[in-house]
Amino acid sequence: MQNDIDLKSQFNHGVLPQTTSDEFSRQEFVKSLKYHLASKISLGNKDAFEARVKPVFEKAEGRAPETYHEVRKAMSKEPYFNFWSALQRNSQEMMWKSVQQSVERQLPALINTAATAEKKLGSLTLDPALEIPRYHRAVDIHCMPGGYHTEFAKDDVANGALYDRAVYIYAMGRMGPFNSDIGDTTIDYIKTHYPNLKPRRILDMGCTVGHSTLAYCEAFPDAEVFAIDVGAPVLRYAYARAGSLGKKVNFSQQNAECTNFEDGFFDLIVSHILVHETSNGSLRMIMRECNRLLSEGGVVVHAETPPYRDLSTYDAFMLDWDTRNNNEPYWGASHELVAKDVAAETGFDPDKAFEAYQASAFDAEEAKRTKVFQGGDFGGGGAWWLWGAQK
Ligand SMILES: C[S@@+](CC[C@H](N)C(=O)[O-])C[C@H]1O[C@@H](n2cnc3c(N)ncnc32)[C@H](O)[C@@H]1O
Repeated sequence: MQNDIDLKSQFNHGVLPQTTSDEFSRQEFVKSLKYHLASKISLGNKDAFEARVKPVFEKAEGRAPETYHEVRKAMSKEPYFNFWSALQRNSQEMMWKSVQQSVERQLPALINTAATAEKKLGSLTLDPALEIPRYHRAVDIHCMPGGYHTEFAKDDVANGALYDRAVYIYAMGRMGPFNSDIGDTTIDYIKTHYPNLKPRRILDMGCTVGHSTLAYCEAFPDAEVFAIDVGAPVLRYAYARAGSLGKKVNFSQQNAECTNFEDGFFDLIVSHILVHETSNGSLRMIMRECNRLLSEGGVVVHAETPPYRDLSTYDAFMLDWDTRNNNEPYWGASHELVAKDVAAETGFDPDKAFEAYQASAFDAEEAKRTKVFQGGDFGGGGAWWLWGAQK
């Protein structure tokens, strides 16, 4: 985004929660623990699988495990896996706690900064009457206390601040100083595969604090950028963050399943790790809404981690850890979707649907080298899986 920034730390924009040295040390410890688990400890699961679990399965069944469900059942009694899994879950809970501590300490100041920060660009429209989808109310998604929507104070921004800092720790810095890697990577794909697309209006669905959204302001300076989310605290924070970074975005609190924009209003619709957090039914409603909102020739692109069918059963099992252990109830199903099928069910021409891998814009080489990607190890790494369709 900017030339003179430190690529090894999170960019200290105007609303980022500040840390005392103890808070910073605690957060750095969690980041290092996550890195150690992903790059070193996690590898032992494969050894345990090959040396102990698979031979026992093969002896009993007369064949190797054929699905990731079979691998999971076989691994569920393996002490090494249970040890790693407990550490992984703990590292996730420690991550939120380590950031919550500093956010809570300075919450009144953060609310005030967000409310008064330089944010004359773009707009923020909240809808207190919006019904938060059940799939967000039912669980604290990925163990994030209160999810994206809970308000702990008037004009709250707590969970925006929490998410901003925690994502940097979760990704171990791999999403870059602005946590913008998924947006930057998706833009690389769009510019390569749809070079003639000159979007007048762009919509980012499930924008959270705008990590990916702001990349579009830079990549498409002539476009008007809109971003929606269901959570008010993340949107207030996103608006202040965008203002502090000099980016113009129109943020609004809306459900992507049913928005208030006119038919054909957008030439480009994107989402970044939204899909795995919505139910199967709502994903299809979102795609139908994309179809309504796109102009002719417009494109929708969703960015996620790879579908299980592209992985070995063992790697799919490891990637599926979040479904059962990290409060991600729709993670598994979302990794089984087929773009052409969803396109056909939601009004798009299946021949204009696509699935593709795009190398991470920020740090693909390092991710490949260490085989660390989004906290897991599924042998790939360094790329995002993009799917969608052209209208
Ligand atoms: C993992 S976060 C997305 C991160 C963000 N796109 C980025 O690139 O940093 C998922 C977001 O989707 C939002 N979301 C989930 N379901 C939604 C829906 N039906 N409509 C709008 N936003 C939704 C959540 O509130 C959450 O903020």
